[in-house]
Amino acid sequence: MCGIVAYVGNRESYPVILKGLKRLEYRGYDSSGVAVISDKIEVYKKQGKVAELEESLLGIPMKSTIGIGHTRWATHGEPSDRNAHPHISKSGRIAMIHNGIIENYAALKLELLKKDYTFSSDTDTEVLLNFIEDIRKHNACSLEEAVRIALKRVVGAYVIVLLDLENPDTLIAARKGSPLVIGIGKNEHFLASDASPIIEYTKEVVYINDYELAIVKGNELILKNLGNEVITPFVQKLDMELAAIEKGGFNHFMIKEIFEQPQTIFDCLRGRLDLTRSDIMMAGVEKYIDELKNANRIIIVACGTSWHAGLIAEYIIEELCRIPVEVEYASEFRYRNPIVNKGDVIFAISQSGETADTLVAIERAKEQGAIIFGILNVVGSSIARISHAGAYTHAGPEIGVASTKAFTAQLVVLTMMAIKIAKEKQTISEGRFVQLMEELSAVPDKVAAILKDTYVVERIAAKHATASSFLFLGRGYNFPIALEGALKLKEISYIHAEGYPAAEMKHGPIALVDENLPVLFVATKDAYHQKVISNMQEINARKGKLIAIVSAGDHTIDALTDDIIEVPEADELIAPIINVIPLQLLSYYIGVSRGLDVDKPRNLAKSVTVE
Ligand code: G6P
Repeated sequence: MCGIVAYVGNRESYPVILKGLKRLEYRGYDSSGVAVISDKIEVYKKQGKVAELEESLLGIPMKSTIGIGHTRWATHGEPSDRNAHPHISKSGRIAMIHNGIIENYAALKLELLKKDYTFSSDTDTEVLLNFIEDIRKHNACSLEEAVRIALKRVVGAYVIVLLDLENPDTLIAARKGSPLVIGIGKNEHFLASDASPIIEYTKEVVYINDYELAIVKGNELILKNLGNEVITPFVQKLDMELAAIEKGGFNHFMIKEIFEQPQTIFDCLRGRLDLTRSDIMMAGVEKYIDELKNANRIIIVACGTSWHAGLIAEYIIEELCRIPVEVEYASEFRYRNPIVNKGDVIFAISQSGETADTLVAIERAKEQGAIIFGILNVVGSSIARISHAGAYTHAGPEIGVASTKAFTAQLVVLTMMAIKIAKEKQTISEGRFVQLMEELSAVPDKVAAILKDTYVVERIAAKHATASSFLFLGRGYNFPIALEGALKLKEISYIHAEGYPAAEMKHGPIALVDENLPVLFVATKDAYHQKVISNMQEINARKGKLIAIVSAGDHTIDALTDDIIEVPEADELIAPIINVIPLQLLSYYIGVSRGLDVDKPRNLAKSVTVE
């Protein structure tokens, strides 16, 4: 969270930074700012989205070929102009942007207060910046040296980039725990939280590692560790196209990404599912197949939507592979002294590969001897780099804050992995293996069929857009889909929503049911179908407004409600990938009809790099 962009080279920095901030806005959007150098450091910041900063700067000449910019997701201090980044040091000679949290900022601030420093914001960033300036002053050293000394005292996570009036052609950057990519152009360098602000200018990038310091000029990039030793940068080629991060005619990234799913699911299967040879090829799984099939336990750690993918994987892996699975919120797992033994395999599921809690959770498990397997979307992300092996979801950049195409791609990868492990472990028959492969290969067409006509979902969305609360129910493989439906609606429409196992609703949520409450059942044909119908009758008897997702041609509940969304029938293990699509659409259309910014819902951020 928080997006950072910086530029040094031969073109004007402001347009590059502004465009970059717009691309990174998904990481946080409560305020933004830029700093450039003229004969002094000029800082401009504004509460609100990047467009508001842009408007406030119209007509102001920004002639500088170096600069830093930031879009914020507030941690220390409310969203406001004064807490927005960049911050400027007491002397006005250094400006800094920061993504992360300085945990010991209070102690550092106390030291500075004793030296008569005053602060104009409530942020930890301003404290760290002045701490660095104080070190430079007292040691009469370079800014680079001062940063190095300061960072040895810092507890927390950070990417920082500093602009220095003494060296107006040089940026200093450092990272620990938050992402930083440097794009290498011709006599120019681009620094950013991810590659999206860079892709337009160059495909050559260096991913900075923890505890590394970058000294960046237009024509020079020097990497060092905190011990002042020079490190050779590892230059990689980006595998991403500009079109992938643009809206391409859609009104929002979220709906674009929903509609991309037939393709992203196909991309995820491509080269892996081999129907002619009856096999699944996944290099990471094959490399660790002995550890996977002989695992004592699989522990899945994830957050948010990725955690829901983990819950479905639990059901599938236990069913097919007969390996015990536990699914943990990464934020709980990392702090609760969990038992991890040799022979346990950790699956880390993360779209961004940067979620701080997931990252630290797997570091802990790795220290205890577990094999770490990453199921990730962003290539080269922090989690990818500390995992032993993994499988990418190949969904392409996901920009809408609410996860859609990354979720379905996670389910596809996890299902393929389960089928492959089960085959190797001989816990499923050849016939079932082939049947599930065929079911998977049919998913892109089934998803496309749902997206071909969204009229029914739009009608139901319009009908319930003013509801103040929603209940989502499902059983078995569809229970996590109910959770995901509720999460999507909360995120996008700000309607209170709960997801529950359909039978469990009798133990509490049923008390909420009255003639005003929409209750959505994910009720496609599976082993629980009859039981779910009984649960619907229970809601109907209490006058709840029933909505149901059913298998195409199933008319069992026609008498109970008009609000029925039909989806193509699928094997119950595969059905979640299909059943979630109408729920994504429902939340999108409700959010839009309530006039909300569905790509940037309030208070949320796409990449949560603080704990
Ligand atoms: C944030 C996002 C969610 C996402 C979660 C986990 O809360 O808004 O969409 O599911 O983080 O992110 P990850 O990148 O680890 O999947």
